Amino acid sequence: MSLIADLRKALGDAAVLEGEAMGARPASDMSLTGTALPRALLRPRSTADLAAALRLCNAAGVPVIAQGGMTGLAGGANPSGNEIAISLERMRGIEEVDTASATMVVKAGTPLEECQRAAAEAGLFLALDLGSRGSCTIGGNLSTNAGGIRVIRYGMAREQVLGLEAVLADGTIVSSMNRMLKNNAGYDLKHLFIGSEGTLGVITRAVLRLHPPPGEITTTLCAVESYEQVVALLRRAQAALGGIVAFEAMWRDYFSFNAEALQLRFFEAEHAFCVIVESTMAQDAIEEFLGACLEDGLITDALVAASHAQSRQVWSVREGHPTESLPNLLNFDVSLPIGQIGHYAEACTSALKARWPDAHVSFYGHVGDSNVHICVSALYGPGEDMHSVDDIVYGVLGPYHGSISAEHGIGTLKRPYLHLSRSPAELALMRTLKQALDPRGILNPGKVI
Ligand code: LAC
Ligand code: ZN
Repeated sequence: MSLIADLRKALGDAAVLEGEAMGARPASDMSLTGTALPRALLRPRSTADLAAALRLCNAAGVPVIAQGGMTGLAGGANPSGNEIAISLERMRGIEEVDTASATMVVKAGTPLEECQRAAAEAGLFLALDLGSRGSCTIGGNLSTNAGGIRVIRYGMAREQVLGLEAVLADGTIVSSMNRMLKNNAGYDLKHLFIGSEGTLGVITRAVLRLHPPPGEITTTLCAVESYEQVVALLRRAQAALGGIVAFEAMWRDYFSFNAEALQLRFFEAEHAFCVIVESTMAQDAIEEFLGACLEDGLITDALVAASHAQSRQVWSVREGHPTESLPNLLNFDVSLPIGQIGHYAEACTSALKARWPDAHVSFYGHVGDSNVHICVSALYGPGEDMHSVDDIVYGVLGPYHGSISAEHGIGTLKRPYLHLSRSPAELALMRTLKQALDPRGILNPGKVI
């Protein structure tokens, strides 16, 4: 194929991998739904190389997929077999940390944790944080507008970005490396590339906004007996503890399943909900708050993590995905108005159990930012597959006017359902943008829209 030869000439042989040299990694993200390898895997070293590659692919009409840490959960980085995949792994590193403007400039292939560490070393704080911090990359985080555990206080990935550099389908480099918090000079173009999952351009560098370090974070685990009380705890903690920096609720079935799998025990009894609240208040203020909540019957038990290790144990229950013991495990990331999440969870559980009485159905998630995750593991009967589960989970969501994706994105897995969360006019405008930016349709085709 002459395109591959042209790519080799433009980027060098070491930057173009084919066949077994690619390994298995480019086939699938962490949804494990990808089965095909791309035609070839490019590993450009610079924005200029990446632009040259896109120019060639666009001219040849060959589709491309940008790949980061492959930690996505929506199939957004999975090839269908005829694409050229572009790994950003060699475009890695922190270019600059500017303490005066509290910003950092990073290359897209830099792992999130590396960026967090560089910010901390400069006495600042990068607020984006998620379980896959060690392997996900900033480029992937931004192209999917990742959420994670600090959204309640600092917002989504989008809110951490001041400037971006991206390459368009035809190889044009759009450098929009703004460093100011305020800049209203025309359209804010970076938002075209944030959250569009590689369908409008490939993000190559970013200016990230940093914050003052939040100070010592204390992790507490609260036992709560109803969803209404979970919400009451959220509002009371926000009022009393000033900045809470995480609020994660786990429904009984989720907490018990994971705690047992990890052989961890925090409370004597089982509770309807276990809630992680993280705050930067002084320990005695937190204890006073918990005491008052116990007295008022808002919570029935509480534990203040005594060490970083104990905090990690609490979080390990929250992060635990015991995939081996749960066949066909699916992980949903819906959002809906906070007050209605408890009711939705009940309705969704009833509907799923009516179809698969032995299914594992459990709920957990960020809740304080309106996002709840659902784990469903069921043994399908004849004529059933994962979409049978989708139909129920999203069908029950309809009347709540929630979103089918709070944070993981649409990718391939939720594409058939996008119309449930977006109006015909919104979908039409998305197609107009796609057509304008990528007229030949080479960027991550078959994803999102
Ligand atoms: C989490 C991922 C699944 O919150 O979004 O753990
Ligand atoms: Zn999440």
